[in-house]
Amino acid sequence: MSNELASRAQAILRANDRGGYTIPTSSGLYPAQWNWDSCLVALGFAQYDMPRAWQEVETLFSGQWKSGMVPSILFHGDDSTYFPNSKIWQCGDAVPSSGITQPAVAATVVRYLFERSEPSEGKHRLTRLAPKLLASHRWFYSARDPDGTGLVSIIHPWESGMDNSPIWDEALADVPPGPSVAHLRKDTSFAQTSVRPTGPEYDRYINLVVSYREAGYDPALIWQAAPLLIADIGFNAILQRANHDLLHLLRCMDDHEAADEVTVMISATAAALETRWSEADGIYCSRNTRRGRDIVKPGIGCLLPVYADGGTLARHRALGARLEDWLNKVTYGVPSFEPGRPEFEPRRYWRGPVWLVVNWMLIDGLRQNGATRLAERIRRDSLALVDLSGFGEYFDPLTGEALGGTEFSWTAAMYLFLRSL
Ligand code: DGY
Repeated sequence: MSNELASRAQAILRANDRGGYTIPTSSGLYPAQWNWDSCLVALGFAQYDMPRAWQEVETLFSGQWKSGMVPSILFHGDDSTYFPNSKIWQCGDAVPSSGITQPAVAATVVRYLFERSEPSEGKHRLTRLAPKLLASHRWFYSARDPDGTGLVSIIHPWESGMDNSPIWDEALADVPPGPSVAHLRKDTSFAQTSVRPTGPEYDRYINLVVSYREAGYDPALIWQAAPLLIADIGFNAILQRANHDLLHLLRCMDDHEAADEVTVMISATAAALETRWSEADGIYCSRNTRRGRDIVKPGIGCLLPVYADGGTLARHRALGARLEDWLNKVTYGVPSFEPGRPEFEPRRYWRGPVWLVVNWMLIDGLRQNGATRLAERIRRDSLALVDLSGFGEYFDPLTGEALGGTEFSWTAAMYLFLRSL
C-alpha cells in the first residue's frame, strides 16, 4: 500500500471532479454523472473530505425523478462524446437523465457517511436525504415488483451495472435488434472494441432505450410490455443490503412508521431470495421474469447474497466455498463470471474481468459473516491490481492488466477505501 498511489488516487478524483459530481473518467468514455459510480466514489472522498463525499450523493439525488426513481445517468453538461446521450433519452425531471436506474447502493453509502460524520452534521444531511432514499426504495418495489413477489426486476442490462454479463444473454437475444447503431457508438473510440460489449448487444441496448422512450417511461406500460424483464440476484442482493442500511438510518431518526415500511420490504425480499437457491447448481439463480425461466449461470451477482444481509441467510458457507474455487482458478480475484465456463472472457467487461467495486461488496459481506481470511485475500488482490497496473476501469483476472477507461474514479475511490479497512 503506497502513499504515492493514494496521492494519485486523490489526484484522479480531483481531475474527474466537475463541481459537485465526479465523472467516471476524463478519457471521454463517460462524460456525465453515473448513479452507482458516484455513490461508490463518495466512499473514496470520505477518506479525506467528508463534505465532498456528502455532496456527491446530494448532487445525484438532485436528479431524482418525482416518481422516486434515481436515474442511472445525469447529464449535467456537455455529453456529446457519449452515446446514447440526453438527446437520445429525452427525459429527466430536474436534470436531463437516462430513463432507467442502477443498483441501489445509495442508502448503504449514506449510512457509511452518517456513521463517520460529526453527529450534528450527519443528522442535518441525513434529514434531507432520508425521505429521498425512502422514495427510491418505494419506487423499486412499486414500479419493478408490482405483483409483490419480493424481487424487483430490471428492464435493461445497463440497470444492473453489469452490462454484458452472460446472465442476460438469453433474455437479450429475445429483444429485437432494431437498426444497427455501429456507426453511432462512441465507446469504442475510447476503449478497445475487444473489451467492450459486442455490436449485436449494443443494437439491442439501444432498441430497448427507444422502446422505453416510446412508452413515455411509464412504469405500468413498461411492466406490461418490456422486452426484457429479469429478477437478478445481484441487483436484489444490493437492494436488500440497502434496505437494511435504510432501516438502520430511519431508526436513528426515530421514524418508526417508515422503518416499519422498510421492514416489510426486507421480509419480502429475504423470503424471495431464499426461494432462488438451487441446491443442484449450488448458486442463487436469477429469473427471466418475461419468459418465466430460471437463469442458471454463475455470474458474480450470484455471490452477492453474502453482502445482502449481515449473516442471516443460510447459504453463506456454500457461497464462500464457491468464491474460493473461483479465486483458485485466476491470478487476481474476483472474476465477474465463473472461470472455466464457456462464456468466461477474461478481458471483456462483465464477462470475466475484475471490478474493485464488487470486490468491496464481497469483502464487506464476508467480513460481516466472519470469513475474514477470504475477505483479506480479496482485499489484497484488489490493492495489488492497482499497484501492478494503475487505476483502470477493470482488470484481467489472469494477467492483472488494466482494461477499459483509464484513471478511473471508482477504482481510485476503492483504492483509498480498501486500504483504510
Ligand atoms: C455504458 O455506456 O457503457 C454504460 O454502462 C451504460 O450505463
